[in-house]
Amino acid sequence: MIAGKQVLLIVGGGIAAYKALELVRLLHKAGASVVPVLTRAGAEFVTPLSLSALAGARIYSELFDLTDEAEMGHIQLSRSADLVVVAPATADLMAKMAAGLSNDLASTLLLATDKRVLIAPAMNVRMWEHPATRRNLAALTGDGVQVVGPNAGEMACGEYGPGRMAEPEEILTAIEAALGAGPLRGRHVVVTSGPTHEPIDPVRYIANRSSGAQGAAIAAALVALGARVSFVTGPASVPPPQGVDVLRVETAQEMLAAVEAALPADAAVFAAAVADWRVANAAGQKVKKDGSGRAPALEFAENPDILATVSKMETGRPKLVVGFAAETQDVVAHATAKRARKGCDWIVANDVSAGTGIMGGTENAVTLISDGGAEEWPRMAKQAVARRLAERIAEALA
Ligand code: CTP
Repeated sequence: MIAGKQVLLIVGGGIAAYKALELVRLLHKAGASVVPVLTRAGAEFVTPLSLSALAGARIYSELFDLTDEAEMGHIQLSRSADLVVVAPATADLMAKMAAGLSNDLASTLLLATDKRVLIAPAMNVRMWEHPATRRNLAALTGDGVQVVGPNAGEMACGEYGPGRMAEPEEILTAIEAALGAGPLRGRHVVVTSGPTHEPIDPVRYIANRSSGAQGAAIAAALVALGARVSFVTGPASVPPPQGVDVLRVETAQEMLAAVEAALPADAAVFAAAVADWRVANAAGQKVKKDGSGRAPALEFAENPDILATVSKMETGRPKLVVGFAAETQDVVAHATAKRARKGCDWIVANDVSAGTGIMGGTENAVTLISDGGAEEWPRMAKQAVARRLAERIAEALA
């Protein structure tokens, strides 16, 4: 779907530069052409020859090398492509982009381009988490730069955390989405995520430990495939991904109202950890100790089941409704029963018992329950689960 498109690929200087070679191969396979630009630091990690051989094109490396200024000047070079991709985007390149510096070919092209820019950051975890990089990232996304990754994992430097460049397949998917060519282009998907907060009084609430990580990863994967995503989120600790329409809610009732307002949709994915109960006698004013030593009695009322409500809609039901089930035993049996009870099309079931290390961890092992039965997926990173689910959703809606 990106056949015939041209990508200007800027390869920065990082150990992840070797993955840029695989990206070039994938882009070629998809029918796109690549104009490679290698920074001086990038050339310390991959050779100009290997990059140019894989790209099947000459590479551009230094601003003042453009003796071919007449043949192709940097302005023209920056605009002839359909998309500019920076992979790896080092901390240094991001800082230059954010500040608008143009002291070498790569930064000049990035300043001169009128095309969309996608970056795949890669750096040491401390560098990624440094306030300066945070500021630069915020400035870049504010400028409309799209970002893929980085992923968390073991790093070449031996440390662990976010900073690893996204895998070439992920970057390809992001390129397809940026070029408006993803398989979910034109599709609208509603995703719920995070916990809900159910008030006891104006200052206290009942909540759960959901971080919203899996919901955010799913929304990001759907966006990467080109979907328009309405992201209905409770107060999660993981921020919403880029490129979604964010609808912030607190309670289950607000979440249902926001989901209903966001419909119609082609698909809905209910990844939120919705409180099953709310406090029926929530106080309008802060509850005070009355000196008697007696604790106030909370009464509970059942919350609406958002997944079941949408699954059973008679008109305007999304074609595909996906729910989640977190179980600690008899996973397949419980999740299969839940699917039937709630009326959804798929249930993504996971075993969250203590020994699995899944709750709060970076990996997940899920079983997809559909009318075709139970399909066990191998244990993989939560982002990989999200990607695979998004791909399956794209297939189901095709
Ligand atoms: N869900 C929802 N609205 C609710 C409760 C749950 O939309 N009020 C959705 C969740 O987002 C998830 C699925 O339903 O996709 C499963 O939720 P879960 O709480 O596991 O299901 P329950 O019906 O509460 O089953 P159990 O009692 O086994 O936990």
